[in-house]
Amino acid sequence: MKAAIQLLILVVAFSPLTFGKQYLPYAPELSSLHDTVPRSAGNITSTVFMLRSDFSSPLYDLFAIHERAIQVCDKDTKLDGCDVRLKNNYSYTTLSNKLVETLKHLCSSKIRTDFYVKIDDDLIMPQSTLDNILEKMSTTKCQVGGGIAVDYPYYWPVGQLYVFKRKMMDDICAKLPEFKVELTSEDITIGSIWNSTNTEMFCSLDVPKNHWHKSYKDHRVSIQY
Ligand SMILES: *[C@@H]1O[C@H](CO)[C@@H](O)[C@H](O)[C@H]1NC(C)=O
Ligand SMILES: *[C@@H]1O[C@H](CO)[C@@H](O)[C@H](O)[C@H]1NC(C)=O
Ligand SMILES: *[C@@H]1O[C@H](CO)[C@@H](O)[C@H](O)[C@H]1NC(C)=O
Repeated sequence: MKAAIQLLILVVAFSPLTFGKQYLPYAPELSSLHDTVPRSAGNITSTVFMLRSDFSSPLYDLFAIHERAIQVCDKDTKLDGCDVRLKNNYSYTTLSNKLVETLKHLCSSKIRTDFYVKIDDDLIMPQSTLDNILEKMSTTKCQVGGGIAVDYPYYWPVGQLYVFKRKMMDDICAKLPEFKVELTSEDITIGSIWNSTNTEMFCSLDVPKNHWHKSYKDHRVSIQY
């Protein structure tokens, strides 16, 4: 961790996804996700997963939230720490297929959790913030949380973090056997699986604005990459 604290990495990287996109307005009851006091997620159960690849950020283990995540790896990856090995190899352009195989894997498990959370390998978010999101979402009727973009025939989550509830997982598992991957973008693909523009289904979180994954700063650490 000491090395991590001394780390200052500067690589300019802009994602085209950040600009010019329309989002659903943030749900007011979910607007204060930045409580500094850690809150327990109580008895809420969640499955946090992360798609790891040979192009994963080498910094992924700096981010505490990832210690709890299931690391989903390709069949022949040489990465350490994989919790799930899929049956195939994937590349950046086949992440949608990787997501679908991952979801099928989760569907095949007998264990269902209250929430499913997909995080990017370079997301920077404290565990307490995720716990707050789950706790607050558990009090609402929405099935899906994230930064919700509205520029497709269905709403979709901007990739770095999205959350869905057990009922949505059951719906996904019912749809997957018939589902055909048509898009390369993994987050637009999950949107097409959800296939909804019902605003009551979505909790729009301020993920894109406040948990953007390219920089992190506190009183001891400053990381940009
Ligand atoms: C947590 O436990 C309480 C009772 O102890 C129960 O009413 C509530 O439904 C539980 N919440 C979840 C998300 O399981
Ligand atoms: C995965 O890639 C390796 C080479 O890295 C190859 O030998 C192997 O056959 C591939 N497996 C599948 C299932 O495509
Ligand atoms: C989404 O649902 C509509 C009907 O509401 C259907 O016409 C469309 O084919 C569905 N799209 C996908 C990707 O499943």
